[in-house]
Amino acid sequence: MRILKTVKEMQLHARKLRAAGKSIALVPTMGALHEGHLSLMRKARIDGDVLIISIYVNPIQFGAGEDYQGYPRDLEHDMQLAAGVGADIIFAPTDEQMYPAGFKTSVRVAELEQRLCGAARSGHFQGVCTVVAKLFNIIGPDYAYFGQKDAQQAQIIKRMAADLNLGVEVVVLPIVRDKDGLALSSRNSYLSPAERRAALVLYKSLQLARDLIDAGERQAEAIKQQMQGLIQSEELARLEYVSVCELENLTEVTTIQPNTLIALAVKVGQARLIDNLLLETV
Ligand code: PAF
Repeated sequence: MRILKTVKEMQLHARKLRAAGKSIALVPTMGALHEGHLSLMRKARIDGDVLIISIYVNPIQFGAGEDYQGYPRDLEHDMQLAAGVGADIIFAPTDEQMYPAGFKTSVRVAELEQRLCGAARSGHFQGVCTVVAKLFNIIGPDYAYFGQKDAQQAQIIKRMAADLNLGVEVVVLPIVRDKDGLALSSRNSYLSPAERRAALVLYKSLQLARDLIDAGERQAEAIKQQMQGLIQSEELARLEYVSVCELENLTEVTTIQPNTLIALAVKVGQARLIDNLLLETV
């Protein structure tokens, strides 16, 4: 496994791979790798001739007062995990490499960036799109892998890749959960044992939604109210939003239909956690 730290090295290497007819599968990450990332890497390992993992905590996707400084970083451990799933290359650039002096350009996906998490995290998706567009341009992957846990991010990146003809297939893979249902997230490491128990309310509220729908409920408002009630009953949880929306455009729906996404964000202690349920069929 090779570690590349400069944009130039990565570009040259990727160019050689493409010239040799190799397909490239890219898993973009901010490190602090967990089983969710590894599930993306295992699929990417199967799909591409070459598996590249980017590890970069992207400063421009964190707002003021967010957890950029404290975001977990452990490159050595991440490299061991990536080697364990057969990664060929780790691309781990510095800030100076990604955003050299004079950097001014950004990529935005209008409307989608403002919905759901975008309402409380102004500029977040602009930061995500800008760094992901840069990674796609530097590496030129055939496939790129994202987790369904970040459903809005995945939809926005799909839109960006299609709109800008980036020539990459964006693959979105299912949420990976702990045994008790908590969605895996690098931010779970911020939780105390009591907060970890409280954080289960996200999954429980989605299960409640599932049960209501299975029992025939189709009204989005009724489902939202029940979910909100459950979350508010958890003392350590502070609800940011519950959204019942259409997957592609992330616009709120009044009635549940195929491809409705039920998504929520909840703060527990220092951690801002998100989770969701995609209803492919109803
Ligand atoms: O999901 C993440 O880890 C990040 O938002 C991403 C896609 C690697 C961009 O920094």
